[in-house]
Amino acid sequence: MSATRSILITGGAGFIGSHVVRRFVTKYPQYRIINLDALTYAGNLENLRDVERAANYMFVKCDIRDADGLKAAFAEHTPDGVIHLAAESHVDRSITDPMAFVTTNVIGTVTLLNAAREAWKSSFDGKRFYHVSTDEVYGSLHDGGFFTEETPYDPQSPYSASKAASDHFVRAYGNTYKLPFVLSNCSNNYGSHHFPEKLIPLMINNIRNSKPLPVYGKGENVRDWLWVEDHASAIDAVFHKGANGETYNIGGHNEWKNLDLVHLLCRIMDQKLGRAEGESAKLITYVTDRAGHDLRYAIDAGKIERELGWKPSITFEAGLERTVDWYLANTVWLDHVTSGAYRSYYEGQYTHR
Ligand code: NAD
Ligand code: DAU
Repeated sequence: MSATRSILITGGAGFIGSHVVRRFVTKYPQYRIINLDALTYAGNLENLRDVERAANYMFVKCDIRDADGLKAAFAEHTPDGVIHLAAESHVDRSITDPMAFVTTNVIGTVTLLNAAREAWKSSFDGKRFYHVSTDEVYGSLHDGGFFTEETPYDPQSPYSASKAASDHFVRAYGNTYKLPFVLSNCSNNYGSHHFPEKLIPLMINNIRNSKPLPVYGKGENVRDWLWVEDHASAIDAVFHKGANGETYNIGGHNEWKNLDLVHLLCRIMDQKLGRAEGESAKLITYVTDRAGHDLRYAIDAGKIERELGWKPSITFEAGLERTVDWYLANTVWLDHVTSGAYRSYYEGQYTHR
């Protein structure tokens, strides 16, 4: 079957990217899906074992800062759509190494924009550059309220500043060169294949291993959690139905204080592991707060629901239980990513296919 569309997904070996790749490969067998990823510490092709042999899937190992590599990938695979997820994504790492965030999130995104613009220069008809971004660009909420698409940008960490800059570049290319684009800003995701440096998988892994559960500050910061497969379905909706040049906020209407969430995870894990009630919570340890820690994020996802008919498919309780079950059934995956074993396993195995 000849493909009806060819879509380049960057960062497809990461947490959210692997869910987006899986969804597109299985739901759209008529599309060719090219997963372009540099395989940093956060990129793991084990995340895609179930689809890696699909006829409509291929992997390209390439860094988005490599202009020649991107040019070759566009020439060889002729994508008419780009879904851009590749990024440095962890706030704590951005505090210790901001330049990695500048080079990948800002310069990498501009390098990718240039590659798309050049490859599509004969005509932008039928082309779409989709930039996947974060609610953190809006800053921190202190007095109630929600982030809407009109909330002014006010990034507070090196990570969110780099994502904000990349969003501005995407819009600037839309305005200046008429590059067709859509953009979305999503709240905190959770689910399977989440790298265990982030709150939920880190806590699950530490509870499993009876290690301390490091809560920053007093645990009063609030995050708005969305199941990763619901983010993937929102990305599908925005990619196919979003209006050119528009931005869509994506969120779960599901706010949790960190400490309450850690207690909930402890209760679920006590049950699953057959521990006495309250045993895992004894592992909670208060540690020095994150520098410049944003207090609260909360998304108003009214626009995407009204205009594209998207809303989350499952409750937090159901999603969290599925998530815990996945980590407990995939301890080999957890042990691999925490030991780095997957990197040597896949070393040199995948380039062009
Ligand atoms: P992740 O860290 O799990 O994965 C990032 C992927 O990008 C990895 O596969 C990595 O190898 C790849 N990558 C990194 N630098 C690269 C480079 N220079 N060239 C090519 N590939 C590179 O990230 P994630 O949590 O899946 O986030 C994906 C995207 O979604 C990011 O743009 C992030 O800002 C955004 N986002 C994340 C969340 C969240 O809760 N995780 C929420 C909203 C938006
Ligand atoms: O809001 C979307 C963003 O959510 C994404 O853009 C980022 O890529 C993603 O990493 C996430 O950022 P956060 O900083 O909110 O996620 P993280 O899991 O690192 O932390 C969630 C909250 O938990 C935050 O308030 C810090 C706190 N925390 C985190 C860790 C890792 C702890 O208290 N202890 C920890 O060990």
